[in-house]
Amino acid sequence: QFTPRVFSGIQPSGGLTLGNYLGAMKRFVTMQDAGTHETIYCMVDLHAITARLVPADELIHNTRELCAGFIAVGIDPEKSVLINQSQVPEHAQLAWIFNCVARMGWMGRMTQWKDKAGKNAEAASLGLFAYPALMAADILVYHATHVPVGEDQKQHLELTRDIAAKFNHDYGVDFFPITEPVIEGAATRVMNLQDGTKKMSKSDPSDKTRINLTDSADEIAKKIRKAKTDPDPLPEALEGLETRPEARNLVNIYAALADIDPQAVLDQHAGGLFGQFKMALADLAVDKLAPISTEMTRLMADPAEIDRILGRGAERAREITVPILDRTYDIVGM
Ligand code: ADP
Ligand code: NA
Repeated sequence: QFTPRVFSGIQPSGGLTLGNYLGAMKRFVTMQDAGTHETIYCMVDLHAITARLVPADELIHNTRELCAGFIAVGIDPEKSVLINQSQVPEHAQLAWIFNCVARMGWMGRMTQWKDKAGKNAEAASLGLFAYPALMAADILVYHATHVPVGEDQKQHLELTRDIAAKFNHDYGVDFFPITEPVIEGAATRVMNLQDGTKKMSKSDPSDKTRINLTDSADEIAKKIRKAKTDPDPLPEALEGLETRPEARNLVNIYAALADIDPQAVLDQHAGGLFGQFKMALADLAVDKLAPISTEMTRLMADPAEIDRILGRGAERAREITVPILDRTYDIVGM
């Protein structure tokens, strides 16, 4: 009985990466253009202060730059609802209710919490611990049915389903949808180009190899040429990459950028060495990413226009979120 509706968010934590683009944003555009769902895309600034408080002007800059990134990759603010989270207060209001639905034990099992809090959980913010409950609210305040994300968000989406189910059960209603994660494509988990065991992340300051959407053509080519690989040629079948995570990562990136299957990449390049393959990959990446970077720079020259787009997005979003929050409060007795 729920309208098919897509929601997904990205933190304005600075420096969109190739991982964000291939794992999430590129599919945001596909889902928008398919026309089968309403699509709502969000800059989650409330999430962006959970790891550390940043200077206000930095957060404002990052939010505008992320908005420029969304538009530059192909999100059309007329077709999709494009918003900044803090401008739609119902996200935070519903999150409070969900803080009271979610259990401490559920939250403590989140691997992202464990990774980000590290050994010093006592010093982590309460917001970092509660992050997944806010994320559940981001999604469910729209009654979103589908959430395209990278693989790192799988566990948070399971928690979102658990929160919806417990709310529905405890109040004896069928109010929140049980959301489907959409984790698909060749690059749902783009890895760090030096350390194939870690994901490429904009929130990891130690990763100097990550490719940012704002990198120049030279920087992109250089980072790909320097990516760690091995001396063996590309195999004929994907099984030949099973024990070669760095090689597999580059093949996946190529496939996602070219919109083909990883096997099709091997069909074209089997027997070749990675030195050569990386040249082809660098050319492909520059071809695909340079226009995005150019468009972001152009959009960033007019911050007032970006703010206007986000203001309009918030108005449209609240046509959905205000009634859903009202009904939630009715169910809870508020
Ligand atoms: P980051 O970890 O880079 O700060 P966010 O937490 O803002 O990114 O996540 C934004 C979206 O990008 C999410 O859907 C997430 O799953 C996706 N994503 C982040 N890093 C990667 C990656 N290395 N590969 C694929 N998808 C990713
Ligand atoms: Na993340």
